[in-house]
Amino acid sequence: MAATEIVGRAVMLESEAFRRVMHSDLTIRLLAREDLPQVLQIERQSYSHPWAEAVFRDCFRENYRLWAACQGDVLVGYAVVAYMFDEAHLLNLCIHPDRQGQGFGRQLLRHLLGEAGRENLWQTILEVRLSNKAAHQLYLAEGFAEIGRRPRYYPAADGREDARVMAFRFA
Ligand SMILES: CC(C)(COP(=O)(O)OP(=O)(O)OC[C@H]1O[C@@H](n2cnc3c(N)ncnc32)[C@H](O)[C@@H]1OP(=O)(O)O)[C@@H](O)C(=O)NCCC(=O)NCCS
Repeated sequence: MAATEIVGRAVMLESEAFRRVMHSDLTIRLLAREDLPQVLQIERQSYSHPWAEAVFRDCFRENYRLWAACQGDVLVGYAVVAYMFDEAHLLNLCIHPDRQGQGFGRQLLRHLLGEAGRENLWQTILEVRLSNKAAHQLYLAEGFAEIGRRPRYYPAADGREDARVMAFRFA
């Protein structure tokens, strides 16, 4: 395929993804404790080792930012970010399995990065399972780089699984 054709296709795909997001009526607002029943439903459908309700409840703190992605009144995803000194730590980013692949994860990620930048944090870091290809691709595409590994960081069906540590630097 000629280089111009590849670039042309990339622009077309970007604009299709952009159109999907623009017409999706997705809104992002602060997550509330009242959202937890829906959050827990999505969490349990999305992860092999979901967070317990007590873990979410413990995140309603002054130095945490919790975001809800909604279509109308329906919660379709959420993100949990901890601010530690001058660094943001993305602890959870999740889109309902039925709503994945529509650009919502990207939009939520861009939102939380924008907010962290606005609050003058210098980087956002996260851990992601080695086997989580979708999330890894999303983070790479949005400008994160791998900065290390944490061996046996996650529980797994057959033991433990390593995490990639990734960082997005604002400057
Ligand atoms: C990871 C997750 C948040 C992505 O959200 P999403 O709304 O499905 O993703 P988007 O539609 O915004 O896709 C954005 C990019 O992610 C990557 N991506 C998404 N799904 C993918 C898949 N199945 N395979 C490979 N890459 C994928 C692509 O780079 C995609 O960009 P493209 O559409 O231009 O190719 C979502 O899959 C999810 O909630 N997974 C379960 C929870 C989880 O694993 N969270 C991350 C923990 S670290």
